Amino acid sequence: MTAQIIDGKAIAENLLNSIKTRINSRIQAGKRAPGLAVILLGDNPASAIYVRNKRLACEKVGIRSVAYNLPTTTTQAELIALISQLNQDETIDGILVQSPLPPHIKDEHIIEHISPNKDVDGFHPYNIGRLAVRQPTLRSCTPFGVIKMLQATNINLMGLDAVVVGVSNHVGRPMGLELLLAGCTVTSCHRHTKDLAKIIKQADLVIAAAGKSGLIQGDWIKSGAVVIDIGINRLADGSIAGDVDFKAAKVRAGYISPVPGGVGPMTVATLMENTLLALELSEAKS
Ligand code: GUN
Repeated sequence: MTAQIIDGKAIAENLLNSIKTRINSRIQAGKRAPGLAVILLGDNPASAIYVRNKRLACEKVGIRSVAYNLPTTTTQAELIALISQLNQDETIDGILVQSPLPPHIKDEHIIEHISPNKDVDGFHPYNIGRLAVRQPTLRSCTPFGVIKMLQATNINLMGLDAVVVGVSNHVGRPMGLELLLAGCTVTSCHRHTKDLAKIIKQADLVIAAAGKSGLIQGDWIKSGAVVIDIGINRLADGSIAGDVDFKAAKVRAGYISPVPGGVGPMTVATLMENTLLALELSEAKS
């Protein structure tokens, strides 16, 4: 068997085009474009690339993006003051603080200062809580992007045995909640999991979000299983690889998403959709 490759880039392009159409109709109806504030501290090269991709996606769909490129020495108080100002700004619908942040700033503390209504990353405990109680509003971009990618591939999630490898606050945990909401039986694995291979061998759907290249071996994949790789790991030769041994897994899986060109573009497209949704929700309230 050779898996069908899930083309996340093409699925994300379709999503971006539909968002562009929705924004164009707003403009034609005399309404304003959504606004996204993107805050970047320091000069981490990977973060600079992510932020650039987000800005380009904004340009493509017609979202007004406002960049705040701050020095690494920015204090927590200064960052919170900027967030407070953006929370009040009626032309800004989404606020994104690119992580990782410098060590003197606590990510979790910063996220809690972003208004949940403008938390387009879907990281705020309020938004994670809404997902946990089956009333999702702004949903974490990578996990929700994965769900949309699976839906676009016509994979029926109801009743699947799903395994999520990795339990980070931003990806693994909300991914488990998304799959539960979609009707999967969910197992979350982490560094203390006793027998990862045994659990993965039984899975209909494997979602890798550990950030360790080659962690998931190809012969662990059940024949015909769906494999989604969220890992983005830079190898010694400068290339990018996921967490799954793609070549070996491809000959066993039914569907598999590549790295790059799989989940990454879906994350960015979902961020665009969340920004438009944040604006629509704020209009519905006023
Ligand atoms: N760093 C890597 N990915 C992300 C993301 O999706 N959002 C934010 N805020 N930071 C990131």
